[in-house]
Amino acid sequence: MYAAMDHNDLVGWADITPLGVPECVYHGVLGMGIVTSHRGAGPGPRLLDARLEHAARCGITKVELTVFTSNTAAIALYRRAGFTDIATIKDYRRLDCVSHDALMMEKFLA
Ligand SMILES: CC(C)(COP(=O)(O)OP(=O)(O)OC[C@H]1O[C@@H](n2cnc3c(N)ncnc32)[C@H](O)[C@@H]1OP(=O)(O)O)[C@@H](O)C(=O)NCCC(=O)NCCS
Repeated sequence: MYAAMDHNDLVGWADITPLGVPECVYHGVLGMGIVTSHRGAGPGPRLLDARLEHAARCGITKVELTVFTSNTAAIALYRRAGFTDIATIKDYRRLDCVSHDALMMEKFLA
């Protein structure tokens, strides 16, 4: 896991988890988050770039993620980092009985 620190405070994290099955040993799934006070201020893109570079050095060739289609900040960040759309999953999750679609994205590292 990569962490973003502001002095001694943890303000963000990014992780790429290998899928863990032999057929997909070179693929990883991205998750990340930045605390509200530090969003839009730079740590997100820096953290993502650093994590992607490390994944490439470790032999990961493709990174996938799933993001709610309503999460425009995350989708903008991922598109700027070179992720492209795979497909939209309809009715991906229901939160408080409200249906949410999700976008699957991918980025090839090699
Ligand atoms: C998604 C997330 C990691 C982006 O991190 P970040 O450091 O804000 O990234 P950026 O600075 O590149 O901002 C991304 C976009 O959101 C916008 N944004 C960021 N914070 C914002 C805010 N509080 N209000 C409005 N827009 C905001 C930025 O302007 C940018 O848009 P742009 O590309 O049009 O300029 C962060 O918003 C977050 O932690 N969200 C909650 C957890 C989450 O959604 N994780 C991803 C799940 S798949």
